[in-house]
Amino acid sequence: MAMPRLAFAALIFAATASMASAASPVTFIFGDSLTEVGNNNYLQSLAKSNFPFYGIDYVGGQATGRFTNGRTIGDIVSEKLGISSPPPYLSLSQNDDAVLKGVNYASGGAGILNDTGLYFIQRLSFDDQIKYFEKTKETMKKKIGEVAANKLCNEAMYFIGIGSNDYVNNFLQPFLPDGQQYTSDEFTDLLISTLDKQLSRLYQLGARKMVFHGLSPLGCIPSQRVKSKKGECLKRVNQWALDFNSGVQKLFASLSQHLPNAELIFADTYAAVLDLIDNPSKYGFKVSNTSCCNVDSSIGGLCLPNSKLCSNRSDYVFWDAFHPSDKANAILAEEFFSLLFSAAPSIAPTPSN
Ligand SMILES: *[C@@H]1O[C@H](CO)[C@@H](O)[C@H](O)[C@H]1NC(C)=O
Ligand SMILES: *[C@@H]1O[C@H](CO)[C@@H](O)[C@H](O)[C@H]1NC(C)=O
Ligand SMILES: *[C@@H]1O[C@H](CO)[C@@H](O)[C@H](O)[C@H]1NC(C)=O
Repeated sequence: MAMPRLAFAALIFAATASMASAASPVTFIFGDSLTEVGNNNYLQSLAKSNFPFYGIDYVGGQATGRFTNGRTIGDIVSEKLGISSPPPYLSLSQNDDAVLKGVNYASGGAGILNDTGLYFIQRLSFDDQIKYFEKTKETMKKKIGEVAANKLCNEAMYFIGIGSNDYVNNFLQPFLPDGQQYTSDEFTDLLISTLDKQLSRLYQLGARKMVFHGLSPLGCIPSQRVKSKKGECLKRVNQWALDFNSGVQKLFASLSQHLPNAELIFADTYAAVLDLIDNPSKYGFKVSNTSCCNVDSSIGGLCLPNSKLCSNRSDYVFWDAFHPSDKANAILAEEFFSLLFSAAPSIAPTPSN
């Protein structure tokens, strides 16, 4: 069955018209549980997924610390780039040659703000992830010298997807102060101004080609729907995601003005994900208002070894109360990839011979 074309927007803010592209792209991934591949396995964290039924549809049926039944969007995009999905930073030994081929710093529960996900105990905030990237760069310099390390960092691609937890596991939690301290507009402004500093820091460290994956309609994830009487999407939460996305878009437009040679792409998946949720049957799904692993509640929401699974995992858009299923990720990654690389030829890898 042919997949209907998703409404998917990539906004490109490129300071230069063309830029040499790496023969085989090195990628650095920053984010939260949507992109994590196992950093939290090494932490004292309550945000973990290295137990069944996570990974039930992954290679070998193994739970790896990915927060889905199969692959993340990042895994699938890596497959399409012809590279292996970069390993979790915390799995590498100090001096590991692997740093030259890309690293994944993403951590479940993490946010733009330090306090986000506080109750998960340990997680790598975006600031922590950037600090680890800095260490990675030091390791690279020791291995290949400063000039080559700078070149590698300039030519690499940086995928960043963060912000969901700042709303879901911070602003929306009555026992954390930010929801009382700030209005939603003030909170979104705080996120954007913090992100401004963080992306500028990454740029200083050598990042040039940065792709930011915008927020989904967070009000429609099962853990938010259960808060409404009829299981509907929470409109105000969706509005915050839209406000955040337009804030990042404006930030990218402004950063591209004053960061020479930066190629910034804002990948807006909001409309695509909403269409998947509103019209599941169009994409071959049966259910989008509850998760396959029966764990919907406003607290918890991760799939546990004693949870009850749905009978057919391909029928569900959501795997647990927060995260899409492998099949939903495959559909989104397909669109993410084709739009990104058709829209931005200068960022696309040239095939190596
Ligand atoms: C996080 O905490 C560190 C150390 O206290 C601080 O330097 C940094 O600015 C904080 N970052 C954010 C995003 O609040
Ligand atoms: C999901 O939608 C179906 C069909 O519209 C409905 O019967 C069901 O009660 C909904 N489930 C939840 C958890 O809202
Ligand atoms: C599971 O669902 C998919 C998609 O609806 C369908 O193609 C497949 O045949 C189903 N598998 C089983 C075992 O029912």
